[in-house]
Amino acid sequence: MSKLWGGRFTKPTDRLVEEYTASISFDRELAEEDIQGSLAHVTMLGHCGVLPEEDVEKIKEGLLRVRKRIQRGEAEFSVADEDIHMNIEKQLIEDIGPVGGKLHTGRSRNDQVATDMHLYLRKRVVEFVGLLADLQEALIGQAKANPDAIMPGYTHLQRAQPILFAHHLMAYVSMFRRDIERLQDSYKRIDMLPLGAGALAGTTFAIDRHYTASLLNFSRVYDNSLDAVSDRDFIVEFLADAAIIMMHLSRLSEELVLWSSSEFQFVELDDAFCTGSSIMPQKKNPDVPELVRGKTGRVYGHLIGLLTVLKSLPLAYNKDMQEDKEGLFDTVRTLQGALRLFAPMIATMKVRKDRMRGAVERDFSNATDIADFLAARGMPFRQAHEVIGKTVLYCIENGKFLADLTLEEFRRFSPLFDESIYEVLKPENVVKARDVYGGTAPGRVAEAIARAEEELAGTRAWVEKYAKLSMAQL
Ligand code: ARG
Repeated sequence: MSKLWGGRFTKPTDRLVEEYTASISFDRELAEEDIQGSLAHVTMLGHCGVLPEEDVEKIKEGLLRVRKRIQRGEAEFSVADEDIHMNIEKQLIEDIGPVGGKLHTGRSRNDQVATDMHLYLRKRVVEFVGLLADLQEALIGQAKANPDAIMPGYTHLQRAQPILFAHHLMAYVSMFRRDIERLQDSYKRIDMLPLGAGALAGTTFAIDRHYTASLLNFSRVYDNSLDAVSDRDFIVEFLADAAIIMMHLSRLSEELVLWSSSEFQFVELDDAFCTGSSIMPQKKNPDVPELVRGKTGRVYGHLIGLLTVLKSLPLAYNKDMQEDKEGLFDTVRTLQGALRLFAPMIATMKVRKDRMRGAVERDFSNATDIADFLAARGMPFRQAHEVIGKTVLYCIENGKFLADLTLEEFRRFSPLFDESIYEVLKPENVVKARDVYGGTAPGRVAEAIARAEEELAGTRAWVEKYAKLSMAQL
């Protein structure tokens, strides 16, 4: 059989052109979505009386056989048939004969490919919300397992104020919560059916787009046929969400790399998640977080890539839009790889609270609290800041920390000091004193954990509901 669109041509396609324009090498990833869309489309054609039921039945049975062959890896895809849509249609026609040619009634590859992309992304969004929830669960688990680990909090990567390690982990839980919300919000715009828009203007057949939508569990149909076939915003949006997730993962990765260094030793990643060196026998390298950090770049690249493909693109379909796929598929694989590893890597890491504690005992991260002590006794905070600045300088010059000073030394800087300063400057009291909503006081962190667990249960319920909807099996 020649090309499905061969009628108008008198010459065969140049071999290089065929290879250059074909997308089958990558859009075969959409085989299942393409068959789903076709099953719904042909069912609708029968329902509306556009095709007789006997033809519809033959086409459906043929499609199911094609699906089986693809699932078993028996189907052969050919570059001459350009893309997944025409490869499947060709296989259908080979299977059931010319009646298979009726499948494309009232449809174009333009609304077909857009539909495939919606079906594909709908599943991915649900999957990624689930994977982010797994990671949140691992972080919450570590926060709960280490409620009393105190570490230095940093600004400018300089020790700033002591915080609970759990509070630091819960900051990431909050970041991933926003990522989850973004994906859940994007679902609304993915949950929209382009099919029935035809090539660009609609179709002359009396089809029922809303019926097709109900078969595929879409809540809405595109209300402008040009927009339906031209819109790739939902993919850009997903790539942006993915870029932000990778950015978050890269920040956590950086911290894990730092924390697992000999200089810090705040955590130890499990052997199963590290690799060795071919020359240095002592090495245990944090390759996973390093690679996640490194792979963030390609995901950012795919976002800019697609934005640039779409820039200035006139309506409606243009072949440029075929370029939406490889970057998306690579993003999905990159994100899957990172998220699948991150949750177990966090869950199994060893937390060295002794090392963290040692760090906060030998630093000046309690200086703010001592200034606050003076301010609470009436000294203007700006002046207290100056006084403690001088005290810290005195300590540095004399090789001491604030806790090492005698009361007599403290009183040299201000008569407002008394014995109670020694309680104030203990790391656990410094932490406990930040008893404000969202702060690092143990009670506040416990509240944050409770809130996060409740939200996590909500997220799990969302995933369960939408996993069913997005897997609409036809
Ligand atoms: N392979 C094409 C793509 O991915 C499918 C749509 C082709 N439509 C067309 N009119 N050439 O964009």
